[in-house]
Amino acid sequence: MSRPQHFGWFLARGFGPQGWGYPSLDWDYDWTRPEIYQEAARTLEQAGFDLVIIEDSPSLGSPETIDLRVRHAFGGPKHDPLLLAPYLFQVTRYLGVVPTVNPAASLPFTSARQFSTLQHLSGHRLGLNVVTDTGSARHFSDAPPLGHGAAYDRATEWLDGIRSLWRSWDDGALVADRDTDVYADGSKLRAVRHRGEHYAFDGPLNALPFTDGEPAIISPGGSGRGLGFAGANSDVQLALAPLHEASVRAYRTKIHDAAIAAGRRPEDIKILFAIQPVITSSAEEADRIVAASARPDEAALVQIARKQSSDLETDLTSLDLDAPLDLSIFGDHVSRGSIQRLIGDRGEEAPLRAHLTALVRAGRINDRSGFVGTAEEFADLIEELGDWGNDGVLLWGDFHPVTLHRTLDELVPVLRRRGILRRDHVDGGLRANLRAF
Ligand SMILES: Cc1cc2nc3c(=O)[nH]c(=O)nc-3n(C[C@H](O)[C@H](O)[C@H](O)COP(=O)(O)O)c2cc1C
Repeated sequence: MSRPQHFGWFLARGFGPQGWGYPSLDWDYDWTRPEIYQEAARTLEQAGFDLVIIEDSPSLGSPETIDLRVRHAFGGPKHDPLLLAPYLFQVTRYLGVVPTVNPAASLPFTSARQFSTLQHLSGHRLGLNVVTDTGSARHFSDAPPLGHGAAYDRATEWLDGIRSLWRSWDDGALVADRDTDVYADGSKLRAVRHRGEHYAFDGPLNALPFTDGEPAIISPGGSGRGLGFAGANSDVQLALAPLHEASVRAYRTKIHDAAIAAGRRPEDIKILFAIQPVITSSAEEADRIVAASARPDEAALVQIARKQSSDLETDLTSLDLDAPLDLSIFGDHVSRGSIQRLIGDRGEEAPLRAHLTALVRAGRINDRSGFVGTAEEFADLIEELGDWGNDGVLLWGDFHPVTLHRTLDELVPVLRRRGILRRDHVDGGLRANLRAF
């Protein structure tokens, strides 16, 4: 038997049109209603998952390129995941629900109170995916967007502020004694006065203290600042890194060093590597999918061009696929890293078709060239990650039942048999389940 690991699901296109653009997912679900998400949440809890994380961006991007984001629904519309969370809590008992939140978008006092309310309503199952995106700054004030480091400074101030409010009820402040008719002892509430660089507020918080810990903090940033933030603050880090031993171990060491530097223990933070596997029924089927992906049809190229156009806020769909990609079409708003991910090591002379084909190209799990393979092959990979000390895995996808079942139906029994996937949750909320092993 292998060591158990934690499993999460990343709802990668957020609270938006699930499955749009994929004809095989046309089941007439209404993405604005809770049912499709509730069905998925129940399935994931039954499957032994610890948490679902709901991606989000409050913005439709820059005014000039909004059409690229909404036309095929890759970049929006998106509804607010915080308000979806209660519907998911209602139909589950153990699953952690983690909406993405951005410190730019709400004040610490408002956030502390809302998160506190949801933590109580859910039986202490709330998590918060704290992101530092600054592209949406214009929706919240007319101040210029912060730089990368300053956005992390603000996130730290925001979270510290929220925590000071959560901790503004000292032990014994809640009395709830019917005999004396005293509900709470106001002398044990802290005034909390914060005057900082980005926020100014007073406490105490008008919400009850927690019985099973604060909401879990989740973080996805991969930069030096991001890893430092995770080490200092997070219960779960969403990791993106090549899945070979040196890289996985190095990533874990960086986070653990940051945790120790912040006075925490390495085991206080679970690192989940994000993977999007394609699980097949046989090795032959996996070979066929990989072979076909090396020669994508026009529809597959169009689909990837639409997604890239949305992500990069630059229209690639109207360009000649067989001409070299002129990099000057990317404005200043597109990061060099994103452009580099598109063109890889193919250079500027390569036609757009070559770049898109490379993005579509899939690889096999068994030779570690990609993530297409059988449940047994994928379980081998996860077991290997476990041998390198890995805490868990974050699977990506939408919340369409077809996606969930294709990914999980064969995988769950295999992982259970090998002892990698938990059979039972424990009481005490998300933190208790994260700390159970
Ligand atoms: C698995 C994963 C999930 C992410 N989810 C979101 C998200 O939902 N919303 C968002 O604005 N950014 C998201 N990000 C981006 C990060 O929050 C952050 O903005 C980005 O990684 C830049 O920070 P860094 O420079 O520290 O990496 C995600 C990143 C990863 C790796």
